[in-house]
Amino acid sequence: MWTGGPHYTYPVRIALGSDHAAVVLKDLLLAHLVELGHDAIDLGTHGPESVDYPDFGAAVGRLVASGEVEFGVCCCGTGMGIAIAANKIHGVRAATVHDVTTARLAREHNEANVICFGERVIGPVVAIDALDAFLAATFAGGRHERRIEKIQRLEETQ
Ligand code: RB5
Repeated sequence: MWTGGPHYTYPVRIALGSDHAAVVLKDLLLAHLVELGHDAIDLGTHGPESVDYPDFGAAVGRLVASGEVEFGVCCCGTGMGIAIAANKIHGVRAATVHDVTTARLAREHNEANVICFGERVIGPVVAIDALDAFLAATFAGGRHERRIEKIQRLEETQ
Protein backbone atom coordinates (compact mmCIF):
# COMPACT_ATOMS: atom_id res chain seq x y z
CA MET A 1 0.00 0.00 0.00
CA TRP A 2 1.22 3.42 -0.88
CA THR A 3 2.09 5.37 2.23
CA GLY A 4 2.87 8.69 0.66
CA GLY A 5 5.84 10.19 -1.07
CA PRO A 6 8.78 11.63 0.76
CA HIS A 7 7.73 14.04 3.44
CA TYR A 8 10.45 16.59 3.79
CA THR A 9 11.41 18.10 7.07
CA TYR A 10 11.82 21.77 6.39
CA PRO A 11 14.17 23.39 5.57
CA VAL A 12 14.84 21.58 2.31
CA ARG A 13 17.91 21.57 0.08
CA ILE A 14 17.19 23.29 -3.24
CA ALA A 15 19.42 23.90 -6.26
CA LEU A 16 18.74 26.87 -8.53
CA GLY A 17 19.93 27.52 -12.05
CA SER A 18 19.12 29.91 -14.87
CA ASP A 19 20.41 31.24 -18.13
CA HIS A 20 21.12 34.93 -18.78
CA ALA A 21 17.47 35.60 -19.63
CA ALA A 22 16.30 34.80 -16.11
CA VAL A 23 19.06 35.79 -13.69
CA VAL A 24 16.92 38.45 -12.07
CA LEU A 25 14.09 36.01 -11.34
CA LYS A 26 16.48 33.26 -10.22
CA ASP A 27 18.21 35.64 -7.80
CA LEU A 28 14.85 36.83 -6.47
CA LEU A 29 13.71 33.25 -5.83
CA LEU A 30 17.08 32.44 -4.26
CA ALA A 31 16.76 35.36 -1.85
CA HIS A 32 13.23 34.26 -0.99
CA LEU A 33 14.31 30.70 -0.25
CA VAL A 34 17.24 31.87 1.89
CA GLU A 35 14.94 34.20 3.79
CA LEU A 36 12.67 31.23 4.54
CA GLY A 37 15.66 29.34 5.90
CA HIS A 38 16.05 26.79 3.14
CA ASP A 39 19.44 25.40 2.14
CA ALA A 40 19.64 26.90 -1.35
CA ILE A 41 22.51 26.29 -3.78
CA ASP A 42 22.98 28.79 -6.61
CA LEU A 43 24.46 27.05 -9.66
CA GLY A 44 24.43 30.23 -11.78
CA THR A 45 24.50 31.84 -14.15
CA HIS A 46 25.46 35.04 -12.41
CA GLY A 47 25.33 37.77 -15.01
CA PRO A 48 23.87 39.01 -18.29
CA GLU A 49 26.44 37.32 -20.55
CA SER A 50 24.76 34.91 -22.94
CA VAL A 51 24.94 31.28 -21.82
CA ASP A 52 23.16 28.09 -22.84
CA TYR A 53 20.19 26.99 -20.73
CA PRO A 54 20.81 23.22 -21.19
CA ASP A 55 24.01 23.52 -19.12
CA PHE A 56 22.11 24.91 -16.16
CA GLY A 57 19.08 22.66 -16.49
CA ALA A 58 21.37 19.65 -16.51
CA ALA A 59 23.39 20.92 -13.53
CA VAL A 60 20.25 21.37 -11.43
CA GLY A 61 18.83 18.06 -12.65
CA ARG A 62 21.96 16.14 -11.73
CA LEU A 63 21.87 17.39 -8.13
CA VAL A 64 18.20 16.44 -7.84
CA ALA A 65 18.69 13.03 -9.44
CA SER A 66 21.64 12.23 -7.18
CA GLY A 67 19.65 13.12 -4.07
CA GLU A 68 22.05 15.88 -3.07
CA VAL A 69 19.08 18.22 -3.09
CA GLU A 70 15.37 17.50 -2.76
CA PHE A 71 14.19 20.05 -5.32
CA GLY A 72 15.40 22.18 -8.19
CA VAL A 73 14.37 25.60 -9.42
CA CYS A 74 15.14 26.38 -13.07
CA CYS A 75 14.57 29.67 -14.85
CA CYS A 76 15.02 30.77 -18.46
CA GLY A 77 13.18 33.17 -20.73
CA THR A 78 10.10 31.01 -21.10
CA GLY A 79 10.76 28.28 -18.53
CA MET A 80 10.48 25.72 -21.30
CA GLY A 81 13.96 25.17 -22.72
CA ILE A 82 15.55 24.66 -19.33
CA ALA A 83 12.72 22.27 -18.35
CA ILE A 84 13.27 20.21 -21.48
CA ALA A 85 16.98 20.01 -20.65
CA ALA A 86 16.44 19.12 -16.98
CA ASN A 87 13.99 16.40 -17.98
CA LYS A 88 16.74 14.64 -19.92
CA ILE A 89 18.36 13.72 -16.61
CA HIS A 90 17.13 10.33 -15.41
CA GLY A 91 14.86 10.76 -12.40
CA VAL A 92 14.01 14.40 -13.00
CA ARG A 93 10.41 15.51 -13.39
CA ALA A 94 10.63 19.18 -14.29
CA ALA A 95 7.44 21.19 -14.71
CA THR A 96 7.08 24.66 -16.21
CA VAL A 97 4.53 26.51 -14.13
CA HIS A 98 2.70 29.77 -14.62
CA ASP A 99 0.78 30.31 -11.40
CA VAL A 100 -0.05 28.88 -7.98
CA THR A 101 -2.42 26.27 -9.41
CA THR A 102 0.00 24.75 -11.91
CA ALA A 103 2.73 24.79 -9.26
CA ARG A 104 0.57 22.98 -6.70
CA LEU A 105 -0.65 20.40 -9.23
CA ALA A 106 2.89 19.78 -10.44
CA ARG A 107 3.60 18.35 -6.99
CA GLU A 108 0.20 16.79 -6.23
CA HIS A 109 -0.30 15.01 -9.56
CA ASN A 110 3.10 14.82 -11.25
CA GLU A 111 5.40 14.61 -8.23
CA ALA A 112 7.60 17.16 -9.95
CA ASN A 113 10.99 17.60 -8.34
CA VAL A 114 12.08 20.59 -10.43
CA ILE A 115 9.96 23.72 -10.87
CA CYS A 116 10.64 25.92 -13.88
CA PHE A 117 9.78 29.55 -14.52
CA GLY A 118 10.03 31.91 -17.47
CA GLU A 119 11.19 35.36 -16.45
CA ARG A 120 9.74 36.80 -19.66
CA VAL A 121 6.29 35.38 -19.02
CA ILE A 122 5.63 35.47 -15.26
CA GLY A 123 5.57 38.30 -12.75
CA PRO A 124 7.93 38.10 -9.78
CA VAL A 125 5.22 38.02 -7.10
CA VAL A 126 3.31 35.26 -8.92
CA ALA A 127 6.54 33.30 -9.24
CA ILE A 128 7.28 33.59 -5.51
CA ASP A 129 3.73 32.54 -4.63
CA ALA A 130 3.96 29.61 -7.06
CA LEU A 131 7.26 28.46 -5.54
CA ASP A 132 5.74 28.59 -2.06
CA ALA A 133 2.74 26.56 -3.29
CA PHE A 134 5.06 24.00 -4.89
CA LEU A 135 7.03 23.52 -1.67
CA ALA A 136 3.90 23.34 0.48
CA ALA A 137 2.18 20.72 -1.68
CA THR A 138 2.63 16.96 -1.36
CA PHE A 139 2.19 14.19 -3.88
CA ALA A 140 -1.40 12.92 -3.83
CA GLY A 141 -0.52 9.30 -4.61
CA GLY A 142 -3.38 6.98 -5.55
CA ARG A 143 -3.98 6.90 -9.31
CA HIS A 144 -1.13 9.37 -9.78
CA GLU A 145 1.36 6.91 -8.34
CA ARG A 146 0.61 4.44 -11.15
CA ARG A 147 1.28 7.17 -13.71
CA ILE A 148 4.58 8.18 -12.12
CA GLU A 149 5.62 4.52 -12.18
CA LYS A 150 4.84 4.43 -15.91
CA ILE A 151 7.05 7.48 -16.45
CA GLN A 152 9.82 5.75 -14.51
CA ARG A 153 9.42 2.64 -16.66
CA LEU A 154 9.71 4.80 -19.78
CA GLU A 155 13.08 6.04 -18.51
CA GLU A 156 14.26 2.50 -17.90
CA THR A 157 13.28 1.22 -21.36
CA GLN A 158 14.76 4.02 -23.49
C1 RB5 B 1 17.25 32.78 -24.44
O1 RB5 B 1 17.18 33.82 -25.33
C2 RB5 B 1 15.96 31.97 -24.46
O2 RB5 B 1 15.83 31.30 -25.67
C3 RB5 B 1 15.91 31.01 -23.30
O3 RB5 B 1 16.04 31.72 -22.12
C4 RB5 B 1 14.62 30.21 -23.13
O4 RB5 B 1 13.51 31.02 -23.23
C5 RB5 B 1 14.52 29.00 -23.96
O5 RB5 B 1 13.59 28.20 -23.78
